Amino acid sequence: MRHRQSDYMHWAKTQSRARFNLATSGVGPFPLRELHFDFDKLEINGDNKYGYAPLLYAIARKYGVDPDCVVEAAGASMANHLAMAALLDPGDEVLIEHPAYGPLLDALLYLEADVKRFPRTEETGYAVDPAAIRRAATSKTRLIVITNLHNPSSTLTPDDVLLEVGDIARSVGALVLVDEVYLDAVYEGTPRTAFHLGPEFLVTNSLTKVYGLSGLRCGWTLARPDLVRRMQSLNNIYGATPAHPPELLSVAAFEQLDAIRERARRVVEADRAVLRDFLARQTAVSAPDREWGTTRFLRLRNGDADGFLARLRSEHETSAVPGRFFEMPDHFRIGMGVDTEMFAEGLRRVEIALAGEV
Ligand SMILES: Cc1ncc(COP(=O)(O)O)c(C=O)c1O
Repeated sequence: MRHRQSDYMHWAKTQSRARFNLATSGVGPFPLRELHFDFDKLEINGDNKYGYAPLLYAIARKYGVDPDCVVEAAGASMANHLAMAALLDPGDEVLIEHPAYGPLLDALLYLEADVKRFPRTEETGYAVDPAAIRRAATSKTRLIVITNLHNPSSTLTPDDVLLEVGDIARSVGALVLVDEVYLDAVYEGTPRTAFHLGPEFLVTNSLTKVYGLSGLRCGWTLARPDLVRRMQSLNNIYGATPAHPPELLSVAAFEQLDAIRERARRVVEADRAVLRDFLARQTAVSAPDREWGTTRFLRLRNGDADGFLARLRSEHETSAVPGRFFEMPDHFRIGMGVDTEMFAEGLRRVEIALAGEV
């Protein structure tokens, strides 16, 4: 049977919520009332067959790329799907990190790719190890998939490592897909997109995680123009035209992107301080310290996270993402950037629940 679902996404949609919700991955929602926008200019239809030119230009300007290198997509989810589906045939070999964001893996399985893994281990701080990728790569490898920042651990992969991965890809005739949906959560010295690292790189992104604008479904891929055409051509199967009102709002958002990011940054940084104190006190859970990012992947020293999270929910009204969705059942993921009071109380409850474990 062909793989046709994402267990993680189903869980996230139906079971992740709780009074103290640590199962988030991006910052809290940015309210429409705070977006500067002339509502007299809102329109239902527009000239947007292969994307709305002002939006494509806004994306291109942010990254210093040619607009011909931009594909507009419904969120990073569709950007990832279009990228992988446009590049891969059934049976093509793909190397993807472990642990990985579930829907990326699900999309590859749906496309019937021959999925191989390279490990990012807690012992190395979840670093991308080019040697591991080199060992896994073969002449059949078509694509290497990385998230940067890494979901779930928020680990940043620096350019020199990505360049090494690019060299490996080139040597076997593969491409590198970097999902950068969390990259702008590096608030100081934000790295340039990996798109600039070479012709074998394509990147996906959206305004969801770092900007709190998920409802706009503003996603995109940056890729070589020949790959852009393949993605646009494939997208003709899925969508005649994009929804235009969100395109107009997204253009406005791009004009205010720094302010939108700063608003959430305050919450993320306050949450990170709370988390640091929590981890310094704790011996029952561990996680490498991270300067950036909206998620953290915690290892439960003795135990199965599923059982722990079930008790955390039923006895303490607090949720977090079970590590089984990242194929690491003794871990769980928590999210920052929504509401510091809620986050602090959620962690306090995690602490009480951990104390009850011993
Ligand atoms: C790594 C990664 N890529 C893509 C997405 C989906 O983003 P979007 O909401 O823009 O579709 C997520 C959401 O959690 C994610 O973690």
